[in-house]
Amino acid sequence: MTPVRIAPSLLAADFGHLAEQVAKVEPHVEWLHLDVMDGHFVPNISFGMPVIASLRPESDLYFDCHLMITNPAAYLDDLAEAGANLVTVHIEAVPDPTATAEKARGLGLDFGLVINPATPLRAVTPFLELCDVLVVMSVEPGFGGQSFMTEALPKLMAAREFVESNGLSVDIQVDGGITTETAPKARAAGANVFVAGTAIFGASDPAAAADDLRRAIEEI
Ligand code: DX5
Ligand code: ZN
Repeated sequence: MTPVRIAPSLLAADFGHLAEQVAKVEPHVEWLHLDVMDGHFVPNISFGMPVIASLRPESDLYFDCHLMITNPAAYLDDLAEAGANLVTVHIEAVPDPTATAEKARGLGLDFGLVINPATPLRAVTPFLELCDVLVVMSVEPGFGGQSFMTEALPKLMAAREFVESNGLSVDIQVDGGITTETAPKARAAGANVFVAGTAIFGASDPAAAADDLRRAIEEI
């Protein structure tokens, strides 16, 4: 089984105390998921490079930047400069991501693709060999706190099957509505990276919530 990685989503944190919030979870998780939204690709606006750059000296976590933006290639230099480790780009925004992936790699960034609930897996399979991560959205992107869409489960299964049968080394991330109830199902279907906003930063004790999530996943 692929190693489990927990990626709390900063979107659900208290924006008045970001560094403190990250410090609380840091010893309990592997990644920090940073949802960048432009108000165009998705209806919401979150934060961008200055927030990522300000957090960089505060944390050694792997910064996983989920770009819900229309023209991600235009921002890769600034994201690398801000201290991103991974950028993930929506296939709906960039139907042929070859050049974007090359640009990211040239900047020393890891690269991944994201698929929305309505997008079939076959939209990304031709490009998976360019990827370190595939993100399967289990909610519509743009907002935290939504319920997990069970339609993501067969897609995760098909993604895991594709990755294994093609001998690819691609992490499979699930993003949206992850809780101690839904994470084990996503794990059984093949996910190994679990984004959780509300379930971690929305909890009264985010560190304990991250531990609970890992325990639920590892119990399966
Ligand atoms: C949604 C974002 C998610 C979001 C998850 O557009 O991509 O990363 O923060 O939030 P929860 O865990 O609350 O569903
Ligand atoms: Zn996200």
